[in-house]
Amino acid sequence: MLDGLMAQVERIVILTGAGISAESGIDTFRDAGGLWEQHRVEDVATPEGFARNPDLVLAFYDMRRAALADVAPNPAHRALARLEREFPGEVLLVTQNVDDLHERGGSANVLHMHGALKSALCTACETRSPWLESLGARPPCPVCQAPSLRPDVVWFGEMPYEMARIYRALESCDLFVSIGTSGAVYPAAGFVAEARSNGARCLELNLEPSEGSRLFHETRLGPASVVVPAWVEEVLSRAED
Ligand code: OAD
Repeated sequence: MLDGLMAQVERIVILTGAGISAESGIDTFRDAGGLWEQHRVEDVATPEGFARNPDLVLAFYDMRRAALADVAPNPAHRALARLEREFPGEVLLVTQNVDDLHERGGSANVLHMHGALKSALCTACETRSPWLESLGARPPCPVCQAPSLRPDVVWFGEMPYEMARIYRALESCDLFVSIGTSGAVYPAAGFVAEARSNGARCLELNLEPSEGSRLFHETRLGPASVVVPAWVEEVLSRAED
């Protein structure tokens, strides 16, 4: 699919999901043994669950934030950082992941549409602050001092971040690539249709076909740590032609 195409590609939008971090040791959501088998979505990923039992929710995200200290970026994260550095056009990375492995892998142009574990959101003044510690003890907001911080993670029923910027990028990209996401959660699951209707070529890299797989021009199956570096190598070698 990329034959003869890369010479014309100037803008790439890449969407990543939990599958890209799986080989780093972070559980995905919907695979066997995934997070949504271990916890009820309604309890830990909705505003209603937080209102019902804030201690449980704060502990869940404190645990996930602390676990970031024990994981490291894998070759797929590093390959995307290399693509951003070496591709002569634009590369925008949109991630549904709340981990920081893209940044630690070297990517700079990353939009966290579902928020970030290392950030806290104040429900009193709505400021988002970088956050590395536990939220369980109700620390004060660094801006307004209210003890009203919550995880800066987008829950079901809430609006993901950066949507205007993402849709603008989907309108103008030549190539849309989806990596390690099941295509089960909107609006991210709708990005392929959006990009395709705007004329972009669409490529899926995943362990197994996602729910929207038929919308992609091509699907390459395999672990992200293998298929992503191989694809990046191919893109960069063709961009030189
Ligand atoms: P899912 O758990 O739904 O899907 C993970 C995808 O990664 C599946 O398609 C797997 O086949 C694939 N996968 C697993 N291991 C892989 C590997 N080693 N290499 C490549 N692919 C692999 O995770 P997401 O699609 O990211 O939202 O989930 C989307 C959203 O649902 C999350 O951001 C989260 C969740 O509920 C919120 O919490 C708002």
